[in-house]
Amino acid sequence: MLRNSETGYGLIAIVFHWLIGLLFLGQAALGFYMSDLPVDDPSAFATYQWHKSIGLTILTLAALRLCWRLAGMAPALPAAMPAWEKRAARAAHIFLYAGLLIVPLTGWALVSASPLNIPTFAYYLVVIPHLPVPASEAAETVWAFVHESLAKLVLLVALIHIGAALRHEFVLRDGLISRMVRPVRRS
Ligand code: HEM
Ligand code: HEM
Repeated sequence: MLRNSETGYGLIAIVFHWLIGLLFLGQAALGFYMSDLPVDDPSAFATYQWHKSIGLTILTLAALRLCWRLAGMAPALPAAMPAWEKRAARAAHIFLYAGLLIVPLTGWALVSASPLNIPTFAYYLVVIPHLPVPASEAAETVWAFVHESLAKLVLLVALIHIGAALRHEFVLRDGLISRMVRPVRRS
């Protein structure tokens, strides 16, 4: 099935999950690599443009994914899962959805606040306008701090989420990852 049901995820939620999940992890790695590059590195400009392009792609996909999720339902968590763990899993999912929107928005605000006024060329195809935020060195520093801190926090929660999923699959063996791999069948 394309849509989620009470017993499992549909194909659309599964494709969104893995596409955005992998893009997010790659994007975080690219962010750390990029911010270690010397300012005069010849590849720095292109690397920043790739980080901005992929980040804006994540923002667009995450917004579409959230609409799809809100228009449907999520399958019930396994009945054997303790109540505290169900609450933690739901809170982590909400946090990750929010992070997938807020982290790229703060990155976009950061480049918009820079007095250097460097344009964003999404995949060298489209010029993305800056967000209407005040531009100054101080504002850029604040947005950079917010962007980097939130990116690290969301990455940490994503790593805990991955650890929890692996524990379910390989220790508890309740097939939790399998249901994010095989779409639910029409009953
Ligand atoms: C989900 C999407 C994104 C993730 C996970 C992410 C992650 C990161 C990470 C981990 C860093 C390095 C932090 C550090 O060195 O401590 C970084 C830096 C940066 N990001 Fe992003 N980012 C995302 C989206 C964006 C977007 C959409 C833009 C701009 C349109 C952007 C612009 C930047 C810039 C300019 C820096 C360098 C900041 C500096 O060195 O002062 N990011 N990002
Ligand atoms: C790459 C390793 C990952 C694995 C093995 C994994 C595994 C899973 C599994 C099994 C579920 C379904 C839980 C359930 O059945 O209720 C899930 C849901 C979810 N995952 Fe992941 N995940 C990974 C990476 C990520 C990343 C990097 C993010 C975001 C940054 C993410 C965000 C989410 C969200 C938001 C949900 C909730 C989906 C919904 O109910 O609409 N995952 N993940």
